[in-house]
Amino acid sequence: MNGMASLGKWLKLALLAGAAALTAVAPYQATAGSAKPMLERGKGEQCVEDTQFMRRNHMDLLKHHRDDTMRKGIRTTKHSLKGCIECHASTKTGSVAAGKDDFCASCHIYTAVKLDCWDCHATKPMKKPAAAANIPSAVSAGTGSNPLAPVQAGGKTQ
Ligand code: HEC
Ligand code: HEC
Ligand code: HEC
Repeated sequence: MNGMASLGKWLKLALLAGAAALTAVAPYQATAGSAKPMLERGKGEQCVEDTQFMRRNHMDLLKHHRDDTMRKGIRTTKHSLKGCIECHASTKTGSVAAGKDDFCASCHIYTAVKLDCWDCHATKPMKKPAAAANIPSAVSAGTGSNPLAPVQAGGKTQ
């Protein structure tokens, strides 16, 4: 795992970008009157909750969800961090926090919130485990010339 290394890099980036944002943001705010940076819109029709609600309360959703998962072993997908990343990964970097314009990072740099999440959690959607999913068929196909092999393998419950 190179999570620590990339977190270090990210923090450095965040600090640099934060410093830059202090000077760069003022005119944007003055002209646009907006209290947030430009955010890439998430995938799909809408967020997991009302957008306004998400702006204010996403941290609580994530923390509660984490507490539920870690302490009670409950796993729901509705407020999962993986879900956030699936929908909010940048089309440019493929990540929510690799670059200063990425979804989670840009807003947090702007508001000077630092997350330790990326210490352990990937900032990019997981690749579909296609190779792993293919192993059973690859194994039965690998038995090669015997035409009965796939049938026998398929019938096994193990
Ligand atoms: C020290 C390592 C570590 C840190 C730091 C950390 N997590 Fe986790 N987190 C885990 C592990 C381990 C799991 C359980 C395995 C899994 O589901 O990936 C988990 C699971 C979760 C889950 C449930 C699974 C999912 O994808 O929804 C959420 C939500 C979550 N963490 C959010 C956070 C948030 C938000 C932060 C930052 C504030 C954070 N975590 C920081 C290790 C960490
Ligand atoms: C199914 C895709 C999807 C998932 C999953 C998802 N989002 Fe969203 N999210 C969106 C879309 C689309 C919008 C824009 C909605 C709008 O413009 O009204 C959005 C908006 C937001 C906003 C407001 C952005 C702004 O413009 O101010 C925040 C904050 C947010 N999401 C955080 C999260 C977090 C945190 C998670 C995980 C708990 C998450 N989202 C999961 C699609 C998703
Ligand atoms: C619209 C701006 C915005 C976006 C987009 C955004 N955040 Fe936040 N986030 C904030 C603000 C502001 C806070 C601090 C709120 C507070 O302290 O009350 C925060 C706090 C958090 C916290 C709690 C940190 C702590 O130490 O208490 C977590 C966890 C978090 N955000 C996760 C995420 C994740 C993951 C994403 C991307 C999927 C994301 N946020 C996107 C604005 C945003």
